[in-house]
Amino acid sequence: MANENIEKRISELRSTLEDYNYRYYVLSEPVISDHEFDLLLKELEKLEADYPEFFDPNSPTQRVGSDLNKEFEQVRHQYPMLSLSNSYSEEELRDFDQKIRKLTDQAFEYVCELKYDGTSISLRYKNGRLDKAITRGDGTFGDDVTANVRTIKSIPLRLKGTGFPDEFEIRGEILLPFSVFDQINEERAGEGEAPFANVRNAASGTLKSQKSTVVAERKLDAYFYSLLGENLPSDGHIQCMMAAKEWGFKISPDSEKCANMDDVIAFIRKWNLKRYELPVATDGIVIKVNSLSLQQYLGTTAKSPRWAIAYKYKAEQVSTILKSVTYQVGRTGAVTPVANLDPVLLAGTTVKRATLHNADIIKNLDLHVGDTVFVEKGGEIIPKITGVDSDSRHPMAQKVDFIRNCPECGTTLIRNEGEAAHYCPNEDGCPPQIKGKIEHFTSRKAMNIDGLGQETIDLLYNEGLIRNIADIYDLKKEQISNLERLGDKSAERILKSLDESRTVPFEKVLFALGIRFVGETVAKILAHRLMNIENIEKASLEELTAIDEIGGRIAESLHAYFANPENIRILNRLKEKGLQMELDEASLANRSAKLEGLSIIISGTFDKNSRDDLKKMIEQNGGKNVSSISKNTSYLLAGNNIGPSKLEKAEKLNIPIISEEDFLKLIG
Ligand code: IVH
Repeated sequence: MANENIEKRISELRSTLEDYNYRYYVLSEPVISDHEFDLLLKELEKLEADYPEFFDPNSPTQRVGSDLNKEFEQVRHQYPMLSLSNSYSEEELRDFDQKIRKLTDQAFEYVCELKYDGTSISLRYKNGRLDKAITRGDGTFGDDVTANVRTIKSIPLRLKGTGFPDEFEIRGEILLPFSVFDQINEERAGEGEAPFANVRNAASGTLKSQKSTVVAERKLDAYFYSLLGENLPSDGHIQCMMAAKEWGFKISPDSEKCANMDDVIAFIRKWNLKRYELPVATDGIVIKVNSLSLQQYLGTTAKSPRWAIAYKYKAEQVSTILKSVTYQVGRTGAVTPVANLDPVLLAGTTVKRATLHNADIIKNLDLHVGDTVFVEKGGEIIPKITGVDSDSRHPMAQKVDFIRNCPECGTTLIRNEGEAAHYCPNEDGCPPQIKGKIEHFTSRKAMNIDGLGQETIDLLYNEGLIRNIADIYDLKKEQISNLERLGDKSAERILKSLDESRTVPFEKVLFALGIRFVGETVAKILAHRLMNIENIEKASLEELTAIDEIGGRIAESLHAYFANPENIRILNRLKEKGLQMELDEASLANRSAKLEGLSIIISGTFDKNSRDDLKKMIEQNGGKNVSSISKNTSYLLAGNNIGPSKLEKAEKLNIPIISEEDFLKLIG
């Protein structure tokens, strides 16, 4: 193809893919299959790789993110990001209305919008392209999180339609849908990590993640609620939002114009319960004067605008009776107490259970069976017990004592010093722990075994066919196809996938073993540092903790794992089945110790290698990638377009600045 034809095809593919993304993520109306989409994306990826001169940071291919650690640069907001004053009653809203009417005689309208509960973001667009994404920060300066924001599929990287100003800002809320939140917390629990307390923390934690690949996987969403700049399409806020919708932004479909406070209050009442039907969290309503010129006239106080106010819904609370407390054992052995309640209607759903988190909470509430308890649904999705009406307690009521033995296997529970949770230590004999370990092993991020999900694992376990991760490799076709709801086809699929899992790289196998505190990143570090399972097994606590990012907790967990003869038996069986227990040859061949003890920071873009590749080379040659400059940094590996602040800092600290060429010479 001639160069202009290639450029044309690239541009065509980009537009088509953008349109499909928009239809899928903004309109929720997919028009092609995932497979068809992937084919087009692959074609574009290939063309962009072959013809790097047509690189564009806003291409749909750039939405996958990069694995490179990146410190966030602080950027000044062009318009400060203020907060809203809050109100909790109709009376306060009427006061707000009166204050405005004292300042103006002009007739005006309000707009009511849902108050989304995530983390706010300000996007700058230049000539129809996303230029910068900045977090709220302290309102004056925010973090530049552009790379992470590019991975959010409902955010347009190039605008549709016409009529947008050459430069403008648009602000909105980045949100994590409830469904993704549940999934992430399940995964975190599986890896022994603390779950996110609520969707807001999960959204902001994700947005500030150092790796944009993590952000891409988390499936964040974003709704926009404010347009800023010169030459906006209208003096009406809601009209500007409608225009932004035409340019490709996701705008709340539920905003409404209100003629007066009575209408505002009706809107608030309407959404009191209805908001629980939404896929994302909301915690109130924002009421705004619609006219932008009137907004400007009314102005702001130091902290918040005079033309807007938030109405926050009270966390709804009801009382009910505590029937019993039962205990759930998770895949890591952690025991969670659950309160079983007389069913009661709360915030639109019937609540029968509430989490009690741990033994301390039960003790502090001084819970007794039959107590009248207060249940609340706050930002968290699972209701919790916030208090007890001890006056109405029956004198003979029995105190709730945390159990001493595992409800699943009877083993005496333990509680590690400094930890809130009780654990069942019977890792190899406690059913939910065994099944959980197998589920983790077969999961997508680990061995990725097709067809071996929770339900099938349950069936196989109940039939007595599997008791550990090695057993799944001994399964026979008939054993699977004879199971309820499974047939020949499913059995074949599972066996094929098991067979294919022999090529899954060592770092994933290591992660799949489910060693406590050895998540994906730690597994990767261990695999690259120690190269094979024998070296990891042999490594002393000192050797392990000498590796960056491996602390005492991880080292001890590894020692405990290898000290268990059952684990060694399972590992030997997996080895016999042909699973990868060492780094592949390509990774091994490129290894050296030339950068041993050196800390290197990469910044900018490079001509010969991608940043990910350079980072890999640093690791393979024994060096350490760091994300911020300090006096301990050995080199700044500087590429094109490197930020002046980084160069300045390196010069100030006397840190040698090297080019890609210098670096390649360094590692020979
Ligand atoms: S307007 C001057 N509209 O609430 C501030 N904010 O408490 C203008 N928020 O930082 C903000 N939904 O993160 C506005 N429909 C909405 C909103 C909204 C959620 C958040 C936003 C803001 C915070 C203020």
